[in-house]
Amino acid sequence: MSYECDEDESSSKTKNIDEVTQNEKQNKRCCNDSEDASIGQNKRAHRAENEEQDSLPAHNVPEKDNLSSCADITSKDYYFDSYSHYGIHEEMLKDRVRTETYQSAILNNSQLFKDKIVLDVGAGTGILSMFACQAGAKHVYGIDMSNIIDQAKIIVEKNGFADRITLIKGKVEEIELPVEKVDIIISEWMGYFLLYESMLDTVIFARDKWLIPNGAIFPDKAQLYLAAMEDGHYKRDRIDFWNNVYGFDYSPIRDIAIREPIVDIVEARSICSDSVPILDIDILTCTKESLSFKSHFCLTALRNDYVHGLVAYFECAFTQIPKPVGFSTSPLACYTHWKQTLFYMEDTLNFMRGEQILGHIACKPNEKNNRDLDITISIKMNGMYSNVNKVYEYNLR
Ligand SMILES: C[S@@+](CC[C@H](N)C(=O)[O-])C[C@H]1O[C@@H](n2cnc3c(N)ncnc32)[C@H](O)[C@@H]1O
Repeated sequence: MSYECDEDESSSKTKNIDEVTQNEKQNKRCCNDSEDASIGQNKRAHRAENEEQDSLPAHNVPEKDNLSSCADITSKDYYFDSYSHYGIHEEMLKDRVRTETYQSAILNNSQLFKDKIVLDVGAGTGILSMFACQAGAKHVYGIDMSNIIDQAKIIVEKNGFADRITLIKGKVEEIELPVEKVDIIISEWMGYFLLYESMLDTVIFARDKWLIPNGAIFPDKAQLYLAAMEDGHYKRDRIDFWNNVYGFDYSPIRDIAIREPIVDIVEARSICSDSVPILDIDILTCTKESLSFKSHFCLTALRNDYVHGLVAYFECAFTQIPKPVGFSTSPLACYTHWKQTLFYMEDTLNFMRGEQILGHIACKPNEKNNRDLDITISIKMNGMYSNVNKVYEYNLR
């Protein structure tokens, strides 16, 4: 399954999943310098971990004037609840690949939404709830634990949906829903490397508690892929930089940096192997446990090149509709705010066309902080010039 990237970046990027044209549009890292500068702190969101807020019963959140409650937020609040600032929602809303795929999946399937009860898990600014209303939903319940929901309530009212959308402030795991069951769950839960943030746990919780048998989940499928990349220039900039900082040996930081996967754009031309699936999630049936996964993989060189690391990206799809749609975060597809996730390796490999890297990947939430991911990648290769048998440990945080 692959996705075309239109030349015109401003047009809709929603693709029928049957479409197989690949446009090797090259996302230029150099065009995104401003974004690069914030890598590391720019993880899409560290979800609210504010003890104070977490301990408030869902219906016991202090009733402040909506506007001032958001306007009064301090940097401390943002630190604990990065979803409370409009900026992160601006980035997500402006990601047209993301937002327009949800929009078309919902609006083009009003036969499914008409007169249905819908649950929006992590409603944010309320965009998906409003799409569901436009598609004819009878009532939408949107839940979000972030302060952004105060703004969402005003937005929903301004757009004339106040009688059909109920927004509830609190953790999905803690709130009481005014209805026993819902017909459809909509949610945008995907994090970097698909699973970073662990928000899929929350969707699984909502599904098991409230979704009717044979109910629909938008989206209902997600896959994670791995490929080999030639990326010497950027590896020198991000990793080897620490070998010599103004003449000083900073290599202790290099040892840490190489173990941290980097979220950034990879140019299509850097991909030098085929892409292989390492995780396939059916959101209708998956369990929380299945999100700690292990997978063997085999990457085949497409040409003679060097390999500096591996790149991971994901795809997700809405398949419970007559004409399934989805999107890809592949380097070969159009830019999304998820970019790609890069795993640099200590060794640079000579990878000759047709040669294979055999590997194994294991991923599980970090024991101390279950929002972080511990990822182990083992690599074996017996090539014309490179022979390796190594294990690399990474922590995505
Ligand atoms: C990726 S944003 C999506 C926002 C919106 N649905 C959209 O598509 O623009 C996810 C939202 O889920 C909320 N969220 C994450 N975990 C949650 C939980 N356990 N309970 C309630 N809200 C949660 C966050 O505060 C955030 O606003």
